[in-house]
Amino acid sequence: MIVLVTSIIVVAFAAVCWILSMRPIDRISLVIRFATKLGLHNIFSRPELYQATISNGYRVLLSGRLASYVLEEALNFKMRPDDVIVATYTKSGTTWMQEIVWLVCNDADIKTAKATGLLDRYGFLEVPHAMPAFGKGFQALEQWPTDKRRFIKTHLPFQLLPYELQTQGRGKMICVARNPKDNCVSFYHFHRMNKVLPDPGSWSDFLSKFCSGELMLGSWFDYVHKYWQVYQNRKDSMYFVSYESLKRDLKKEIENLAKFLERDLTHEQIDAIAKHCSFSSMSKNQATNYSSVARSGVMNFQTSKFMRKGEVGDWKNHFTINQNDAFDRMYRERTKDWTLEFEFELGNDTAKK
Ligand code: A3P
Repeated sequence: MIVLVTSIIVVAFAAVCWILSMRPIDRISLVIRFATKLGLHNIFSRPELYQATISNGYRVLLSGRLASYVLEEALNFKMRPDDVIVATYTKSGTTWMQEIVWLVCNDADIKTAKATGLLDRYGFLEVPHAMPAFGKGFQALEQWPTDKRRFIKTHLPFQLLPYELQTQGRGKMICVARNPKDNCVSFYHFHRMNKVLPDPGSWSDFLSKFCSGELMLGSWFDYVHKYWQVYQNRKDSMYFVSYESLKRDLKKEIENLAKFLERDLTHEQIDAIAKHCSFSSMSKNQATNYSSVARSGVMNFQTSKFMRKGEVGDWKNHFTINQNDAFDRMYRERTKDWTLEFEFELGNDTAKK
C-alpha cells in the first residue's frame, strides 16, 4: 500500500514538473489535445476578442485568451533559408495562393496535391499544434524535417512576424491583398460559420467593426499598407499580388510567381495549375475546400461554405447605398497617401473564371 501511494505521488510530482518545464505554447497544446480527446473542444467556441500587448509593444486584438502565448513564441520562431511564407489578411485568398504556391514549388504535382490536404502541406504559424481542425501548427513547423521545404501560412500583421523575418528577408514571402469591401463581406460570412471566431452580429455592426479595426488581428488598412511598404524595399524576397489580379489573369500571375520562386515551369504545367486552381475546381476538391473542417464541427457549411463565391464585386450584394458612400469617403481619406490601389469590380470581359 505504502509503495503504491509513494509511486502515485512520485508519478504525479514528475508529471507536474514536466508540465511546468514546458513552454506555455506546449502547455496550451497539451490542454487542447486533452480537451479534444474528451470531446470538450467546443469550450473553445465563439471566444471573445481581447486586446493584448505583445512583448515588442505591439497591441493587437486576439480571439481566445491563450493566443498571446503563441504570438510570443512566433516572434522568436527560427526561419530556414528556403521557407515559403504566404501572408495575408484573413479572407483575401490565402487558400487560393497556398495551393498555387505549393504547386509552383512542386513541379505542378497535382496528383500529390489532390491526395494530401492543404492543411497537411502547410503549417499555420500562429496556431498551436493539435488545435482541432487547423492542421499543422507552430510546433509541427519547428519539427518539420530539415530535408523538406517548409510551407508556412500566416495572418499575422508584419510587426508580429518572427523577428528574423521582420529584420531580414529570409525565405520567400508571398502576400495577397483583396479589396476591402469584398474582404469584409467574406470575413463576415466566415465569422457566421466559424465557431472559433466571435459571433459577427449584424452585417452593419460587422462593417463598422471592420472600418474601425475592431476585428481579430486589427485593421485591414494598417495590415495591408504595412506589408505594401515593406515590399517596396524587399522585392527579391517578397511578392505582393492582389486577389483581383489573380482573378483577372490567373495564368499570368502563376508565371510571375514561378519567376519569383525561381521555378522553371512549362506552359503545360502552368495551364494545369491554372485549371486546378480555378474556383470551381478548388471548391469541389476535398484537399482544398475545408470539408474536413466542416466535418469536425468547427465550421458550419449549412450557414456558409468556405469556398463561398470567389468573386470580385460581391460587396454590391451587401453594402447599402449609404454604407457604400460612407465607406468610400473613409477609404479615400485613409488611403490618400498610398501608392497601392485596388479594383472593386472587374469587367466581365476580363474576369476569368
Ligand atoms: P468568398 O468568401 O468571397 O467566396 P482565405 O483563403 O484567405 O480564407 O479566403 C477565402 C476567400 O477566397 C473566399 O472568398 C473563397 O471563396 C475565395 N477563394 C478560395 N479559392 C478561390 C479560387 N480558386 N478562386 C477564387 N476565389 C477563391
